[in-house]
Amino acid sequence: MNLDARELAALFDLEKLTPDFYANPYPTYRALREHEPVKRLPNGSWFLTRYDDLVAAYKNTKVFSSDKKKEFAPKYGASLLYEHHTTSLVFNDPPAHTRVRRLIMGALSPRAISGMEPDLIALVDRLLDAIAAKGTKGNVDLIDDFASAIPIEVIGNLLDVPQDEREPLRDWSLAILGALEPVVTPHVFARGNKAVEDFLAYLEGLVARRRAKPGNPERDVLTRLIQGEDNGERLTEKELLHNCIFLLNAGHETTTNLIGNGLVALLAHPAEKQRLIETPALIKTAVEEMLRFESSNQLGNRMTVEPVELGGIAMPAGTPVTLCIGAANRDPAQFADPENLDIGRTPNRHLAFGTGAHQCAGMALARLEGAIAISRFLARFPDYALSGPPVRGGRVRFRGFLSVPFQVG
Ligand code: HEM
Repeated sequence: MNLDARELAALFDLEKLTPDFYANPYPTYRALREHEPVKRLPNGSWFLTRYDDLVAAYKNTKVFSSDKKKEFAPKYGASLLYEHHTTSLVFNDPPAHTRVRRLIMGALSPRAISGMEPDLIALVDRLLDAIAAKGTKGNVDLIDDFASAIPIEVIGNLLDVPQDEREPLRDWSLAILGALEPVVTPHVFARGNKAVEDFLAYLEGLVARRRAKPGNPERDVLTRLIQGEDNGERLTEKELLHNCIFLLNAGHETTTNLIGNGLVALLAHPAEKQRLIETPALIKTAVEEMLRFESSNQLGNRMTVEPVELGGIAMPAGTPVTLCIGAANRDPAQFADPENLDIGRTPNRHLAFGTGAHQCAGMALARLEGAIAISRFLARFPDYALSGPPVRGGRVRFRGFLSVPFQVG
C-alpha cells in the first residue's frame, strides 16, 4: 500500500509497526514531523518528532520526569525486570539519579577514557587479524566478528569482569533491553526477567570477590561504585547491582549498533566511504554523522509531572511522552539536507546521546570506540562488501543489525 505522508502520519501507531517501518522508519518520521509533530497515539501517550520539542522536554527535567515507577508497574508487575529498570539511574530523577551519576561519571573521566585507548587499539587489531585469517570466503559477520565484540570487552574491562566470564553478557543485555520495546510479548518478558535473575546472581558473586580484593578505583568502575564517594556517599546493594547491569547494557547494544550502522551506511554511500578513506582525519565528524544519521537509540521516554504546553499542545500531569531521536536528528529546521549522509558535517548538534541531566554518561567512550573501530576497519579492508542481506534487529528503540555477512574485498 502506498500511503501519502498525511495518511502515514495519521495511521502511525508505535504499537502496530509494519515491516516497511522497521526497514526504513525515516519516511514515517518525516511525515510525522511535517503533519503531526506532536502526535497523540491510540494508547494516550504523545510522540514527539521535532528537534526543538525534544530539546525542550530533555532540558525541563522538573516537568518531564524520567522516573518510571508508575509507568512500568502495569507493564512488568512485581518482577525483577521492574526492580531492575526502576533502580537504574536513567529511569530516576534527583536525588537518586544524581548520586549514582556522580559515581559513574567519576570513573568515565576524560583521563580514564584516554587511558583505555591503547588496549582498545590492540583489541580492534586482534579482531581485524582474526577476520583477515578467515580469508575472503564471505563467511565473516560484521556484528558477531567485529561490532559486538568491541563493547563487550570494553565494558567488561570497565567493570573488570574476568575474561572467561564475559560470554553470557551480550545475551543478558539483549534480553533485558528487548523488554523495553513498546510491545512486550510473554516470551520477551520471561526472557528479560530470567536475564535479570542470572545477571544479578552473577554480579553478587563478582561484587563479593571485589569487596574481598578491591581494584584500582581510578580504572575499575565496580570498585568505585562499591567504595562510594569520599564524603561517605554509598549505594545500597540493590542500587549497586542494578546500576552495574545498566552500565553493561547501556554500553553494549548502542555501541555495537554505532559501529555496525556506520559501516553499513558507508556501503550505501560509496562517495562518502571513499572520502573517509582518502581523508582519515574526518573520522571524528564521520562518527558524529553516523550517530545522527542512524541513531542507535531511536527513542527516549518521559512522563509529565505538572501540566505543561509543548509544541502548542497542552498536556496534563501524568502524560507519557516518547521522544523520537531518530526523527529529531533528521529535522530540516536543525540540519541542512538532513536525509543526506555528510561525513564532514559541522556543526552537528545531534541528539543521539540525548541532552540535559541524563545525557549519555558514556558518550566519550562510545565516540572513542566508534572512531577507532571504524577508522581501523576501513584502513585494513577498504574494499569490504556485503556477501548476503543484512538482518535487522527488528526493534524500534534500538536500531541496528543482528547480522551483516560481508567479505573483506
Ligand atoms: C553509541 C553509543 C551510545 C548511545 C547512542 C547512547 C545513548 C544514550 C542516550 C540517548 C542516553 C539518554 C537517555 C535518556 O535521557 O533518557 C544515554 C544514557 C546513558 N548512557 Fe549511553 N549511549 C551509548 C553508549 C554508552 C556507553 C558506552 C556507556 C557506558 C560505558 C553508556 C552509559 C550511559 C549511562 C550510564 C546513561 C544514563 C545517564 C543518566 O541517566 O544520567 N552509554 N545513552
